[in-house]
Amino acid sequence: MADDIWILGIHMTKFGKHPDKDVVDLGAEAAMAALKDAGVTMKDVGIIGAGNLMGGGGIGQQLQKQIGQTGVPVYNVSNACATGATALRTAIMAIKAGETDCGLAVGVEKLAGAGLLGGGGVAKSDKKEYKPSGRYGSVTNTDGRIGTNTMPGVFAQIGMEYGHKYGGTSFELFAKISEKNHAHSTLNPLAAYTKKMTLEEIMGDVMIAYPNTRPMCSANCDGAAAAVVVSGEKLKTLSLEQQRRAVKVSASILTSDPWEEACQILPDVNQLTKNAAKQAYEQAGVGPSDLNLVELHDCFATAELVHYDNLGLCEEGGAADFFNSGATWRTGTTPVNVSGGLESKGHPISATGIANIWEVCHHLRGEAGDRQIEGARVGLAHVIGLGSACGVHILEKSGL
Ligand SMILES: CC(C)(COP(=O)(O)OP(=O)(O)OC[C@H]1O[C@@H](n2cnc3c(N)ncnc32)[C@H](O)[C@@H]1OP(=O)(O)O)[C@@H](O)C(=O)NCCC(=O)NCCS
Repeated sequence: MADDIWILGIHMTKFGKHPDKDVVDLGAEAAMAALKDAGVTMKDVGIIGAGNLMGGGGIGQQLQKQIGQTGVPVYNVSNACATGATALRTAIMAIKAGETDCGLAVGVEKLAGAGLLGGGGVAKSDKKEYKPSGRYGSVTNTDGRIGTNTMPGVFAQIGMEYGHKYGGTSFELFAKISEKNHAHSTLNPLAAYTKKMTLEEIMGDVMIAYPNTRPMCSANCDGAAAAVVVSGEKLKTLSLEQQRRAVKVSASILTSDPWEEACQILPDVNQLTKNAAKQAYEQAGVGPSDLNLVELHDCFATAELVHYDNLGLCEEGGAADFFNSGATWRTGTTPVNVSGGLESKGHPISATGIANIWEVCHHLRGEAGDRQIEGARVGLAHVIGLGSACGVHILEKSGL
């Protein structure tokens, strides 16, 4: 059984529109580049975890035909926005169980032009007839207090609920969060949108679900990310350079919703994130104040605010004050989403859970170029998908 797990190689493709590439092209590109980054080949890989939501299943085996069909176990995973993180955890768990010492995880999605997404992550249908249907026999969708059952609707309500409970929020405050992430994206050439946006541009854009305008929503786009993970024992057999660039997975946590009274009415993205963060800090033996950067799931600007609180980056109820203090800008005490976040970098759903780890790894390795957070030693990556599944990983720089 392996005690410690390391990310040996990692890659993300450019996020954006890739009309000339399918999921296999994109996933294979990320996988081959991650293997190269790790300095290993498919012959070293003992397990593949592969995630894709929209492509019809079996993505892992399809990828094998492109990157090397070696007969190893393949796990195809589907776990809403936490799909990439779940694929990574699948590889990590196999190593921890002692089945292999090296695993490959890939997450890939083609989502450009998908339009509004429903509660399950799939494209929302234009239902014209309202008849009781489904397991609960409801006439309209039950997700969200006004039955929106769209992602923007649900996450807008979650931000509004936080403001109602604790105060301090406004349309402008949520837009300022987006202004920060779009400003950060100007330093990330792999982001789908890299244009700095003024507060006026953000607030004046198309309103999707109040208070989130279009640039305050995660961008539907195409992309893939992949990672190679190894056991500490395997790492010791590799070169000093591989050991120096390896990033320690100090915590790898996945949670789902605990029981609660209101879960059929307004999906709760808070408690499972709080539970995941608590477990992750305990597993890693670090606290929020030790984090040099955080990549959290800003699927909407409203979501970023509530996750400051859920991840314990601020006091309970203090997310608005925390943001207003400037803490989450790249120059602040706890830089959040220096990649540009999902609002600018984009959100090809199954790739996101590995892409946010890619970002953190690059800072810990000192390889983040113009957007490097100097001296970064510890970082946290978070994703949450409705349904619900939340992944939190805490990563630490190698001591070498
Ligand atoms: C908000 C949303 C409905 C906009 O979709 P859309 O109206 O089809 O918009 P498009 O993607 O066609 O973009 C139109 C233009 O708006 C601008 N734009 C769109 N999203 C943007 C963003 N996040 N930031 C900056 N500009 C953006 C771009 O200029 C874009 O044109 P271009 O890509 O050719 O440059 C869609 O992105 C969305 O539903 N996002 C949320 C996805 C989601 O729910 N994911 C799961 C979350 S848990």
